[in-house]
Amino acid sequence: MPPSATYYFPTGFLWGTATSSHQVEGNNTNNNWYLWENEPGRIVHGHRSGLACNWWGGRWREDFDRAAETGQNAHRLSIEWSRIQPTPDRWDEDALDHYREIIRGLYQRNMTPLVTLHHFTDPIWVYEKGGWENEETPRHFERYVTKVVEALKDYVSLWVTINEPNVYVYGGYLGGGFPPGKNDLRTAFQVLAHMVKGHAAAYQAIHRIQKTARVGIALNYRSFRPARTWFPPDAWIAAFLHQGFNAAFPDAITHGKLRFATFRAEIPEAAKTQDFFGLNYYSRDLISFNPFSKSGFFYTARYPQEAELSDTGFLANVPEGMFEGLAWAKRYGLPILITENGVEDADDDLRPRYLVQHLHQVWRAVNFNWQIKGYFHWSLVDNFEWERGWTQRFGLWGLDVETQRRIRRPSVDLYAEICKTNSLSA
Ligand code: NOJ
Repeated sequence: MPPSATYYFPTGFLWGTATSSHQVEGNNTNNNWYLWENEPGRIVHGHRSGLACNWWGGRWREDFDRAAETGQNAHRLSIEWSRIQPTPDRWDEDALDHYREIIRGLYQRNMTPLVTLHHFTDPIWVYEKGGWENEETPRHFERYVTKVVEALKDYVSLWVTINEPNVYVYGGYLGGGFPPGKNDLRTAFQVLAHMVKGHAAAYQAIHRIQKTARVGIALNYRSFRPARTWFPPDAWIAAFLHQGFNAAFPDAITHGKLRFATFRAEIPEAAKTQDFFGLNYYSRDLISFNPFSKSGFFYTARYPQEAELSDTGFLANVPEGMFEGLAWAKRYGLPILITENGVEDADDDLRPRYLVQHLHQVWRAVNFNWQIKGYFHWSLVDNFEWERGWTQRFGLWGLDVETQRRIRRPSVDLYAEICKTNSLSA
């Protein structure tokens, strides 16, 4: 069937994909995830990141070629702190050179880099001192950020300080899937507060070095909706989750006040430390009050019945949640970047629909003249999906982990058409 309409995006819109160091580089043996992967029972089927997509060994070249040839004009990647500062008193200049080369590789392909400074992993030495539970960590982070920005300032002006601080805190301090696998609300709050401070210090450091920098975070926005509209407790819990999971961090770096569950902290230096709003959107949860819930949080979450599920049931396809997230993010009054969106789908039977439907929601927002500057699909190529190992396949390109062969999924051509024409035909 021929397309019935074409939806155009603004000139200069950034079209790309997103990756992160630990998930694609391989041979990352000096961070807390390496330790975690080696603890029995932590990762599904005992999977390891291993060689990952072997970017550290040079395969970034062919993957960037693929991205550029298929019309992408931007790429979001992250720097691995444990490579830059392997021990507290040592900077690895070779590693910095290596990243410089990788980022120059984007330039040579006419792609704009968006660089994340912290994407879930911490160097072992940071982890052993208590990670972000330690009040010294924000200062260590600031020193590392200063070093990286000094080294890359000629090539990068778009920075994400911390990726999904809300997921980092949930995974490590409430849910248990991320290191250090704790379940303690007070510690979770402390870690969140230290991340707010680390972000604020990094924001100031970047701006001191680079006047033209645009700095933000990448926030995981989850759409929480009451399961039963006639039963107020469902709505109360959904609102509580929205505040704690979605709003707490961006509010803190807007107003300098952190509010999380029953905890409060004044962090005045964090006020107004965001130049753009980075939004990662994947899915929606329907929330029911449930005093007998095993999670200990008095609620249960499920996906909307009519929504299609991803391969392992990890995500539901709820494109309206993208528009909802953008409408919410817009209230912070900043330009917005969609720093991640995607679906795990090895056979690529859902991804084309997921992509078109989500981009249609993005276009609706663009059409209202909301300042949406770009979209980064997660991900360019299948990569190591944290505690779910290699069981989830988010790439436009598939990866044969044994042979390192890349497999072109049909979504590659679909996304290429969108990027090249700066429009969506549906
Ligand atoms: C968000 C995280 O930033 C990324 O690391 C992860 O792979 C994707 N979501 C998919 O779960």
